[in-house]
Amino acid sequence: MALDLVDIQGLAFYAYSEHPFAAYLHVHLAPHDPRTGAWVREMARHVRRAHNATDRGFRDRQRETVHVAFTCAGLQALGLTHQELLAFPREFVHGMNHGLRAKVLGDTPAKWTFGGPEQPPIHAIVLLYARTRDERDELVQAHAGRIEAAGARVVHRDDAHILPQTHEHFGFHDGISEPHIGDGPRTKDVGPESSLAPGELLVGHTDEYDQTNPAPVLRGFDVGTNGTFVVYRKLEQRVHAFWRAMRERARPRSQETPEQASVRLAASLVGRWPGGAPLVDHPDRDPGIETSTNDFLYAEKDPHGTRCPVGSHARRAYPRDMLAPAQQDSLTETSRHRLFRRGRPYGPPVGKPPWTLNVSDRDDDAEGKRGLVFIALCGSLRRQFEFIQQTWVLSTKFAGLHDERDPMIGGGGRFTVQCHPVRRCLVDLPSFVEMRGGAYFFMPGLRALDWLGKL
Ligand code: HEM
Repeated sequence: MALDLVDIQGLAFYAYSEHPFAAYLHVHLAPHDPRTGAWVREMARHVRRAHNATDRGFRDRQRETVHVAFTCAGLQALGLTHQELLAFPREFVHGMNHGLRAKVLGDTPAKWTFGGPEQPPIHAIVLLYARTRDERDELVQAHAGRIEAAGARVVHRDDAHILPQTHEHFGFHDGISEPHIGDGPRTKDVGPESSLAPGELLVGHTDEYDQTNPAPVLRGFDVGTNGTFVVYRKLEQRVHAFWRAMRERARPRSQETPEQASVRLAASLVGRWPGGAPLVDHPDRDPGIETSTNDFLYAEKDPHGTRCPVGSHARRAYPRDMLAPAQQDSLTETSRHRLFRRGRPYGPPVGKPPWTLNVSDRDDDAEGKRGLVFIALCGSLRRQFEFIQQTWVLSTKFAGLHDERDPMIGGGGRFTVQCHPVRRCLVDLPSFVEMRGGAYFFMPGLRALDWLGKL
């Protein structure tokens, strides 16, 4: 069945690289205020629909792109009752800061700077994308004005921007591996294993289990279909601590400089070289190219992780064909736990390739905060995002490993580099990434958005 691209918000398919400057406004609505509905209906007029977004020329000509999504508390503020909200999945109803979710995700919401249990509840997020910093600020001003006029307030704002060559702050090419929807518009040339059923992205569609991802129907209206769930996590990156640790722990091989050795070690944590080349294809030396190569597997080429460590970030976040019992089973299983990443870095870039910095006396805290606003879309928060975080990224028993987590985002500790003649084990790595706040949102289709505005 063809997807209704007129109804779906464009962020489902596009990351808007032609609009590199973003701002994310977290909004607290005024419940029962009649102006709230008018604001939602007005937002429906601003939101970029997926059918517009399919045309790159059209996107290039647009000054801006706008999207909107709601937390469960936000849907309640719009007029849905608690009973009605139970039609949504439990993890969404709980919200990211709920104790059970925090356990699954390894979070401490009491320490967050926004979205925590002691902070003003977040009801909605307005995602704004612009071509320049000035246009972004104008856009923010216009939307902040509309929010205020609706009796609501912005309780948190994050600005984010695409860094040169889409690298993240540690210095690695990010956003390469991206699944696509079989019947949807393709955004990238990707490997064949990356084509997914639409229910992995959109509510109310067939998923990778060949079942319909259930859509909440309320008061006789289908609110869920063509919507998608949004994971928002502000992850602070300690760039100097990361590269200091790489410098200190690297063991140069003959004819390798200390800098090259530290880049090789860092690449083994990530699973790719800074330019994006996968370690399974280039295990020994950085080929020094910018690439989006994504058509690779692990089981045959690298069954024991001697080319790309088994516990590296990319291998944990999407193990492809490497999980037991067999390659094909693994591909089927891992296809049910994918994410559509839409995040962007925030904060000042370090300026030059981070591995060339003199990191010995540089302090992450003193230099201003930087990191990644991690945004991911999925049809099921539990089966996709939470599963990846809990069962792969944070699992201390992932794929036969023992007592270690994702070396880049798992909070530090131990990391095993499988190599000949014996493996190398790094211990007591510091934490390189800290969670600062976040929330789960539901990004409705346009018809549902209009309906919500009329409640
Ligand atoms: C500051 C935090 C993070 C940084 C710096 C980071 C960085 C990276 C980089 C450099 C890559 C390789 C490039 C690519 O394949 O796109 C990657 C891949 C990936 N990351 Fe992250 N990441 C972060 C957090 C997360 C989180 C929280 C998740 C999910 C729980 C995640 C899931 C993924 C996935 C699914 C891939 C693709 C793996 C593949 O398909 O091979 N990342 N990340």
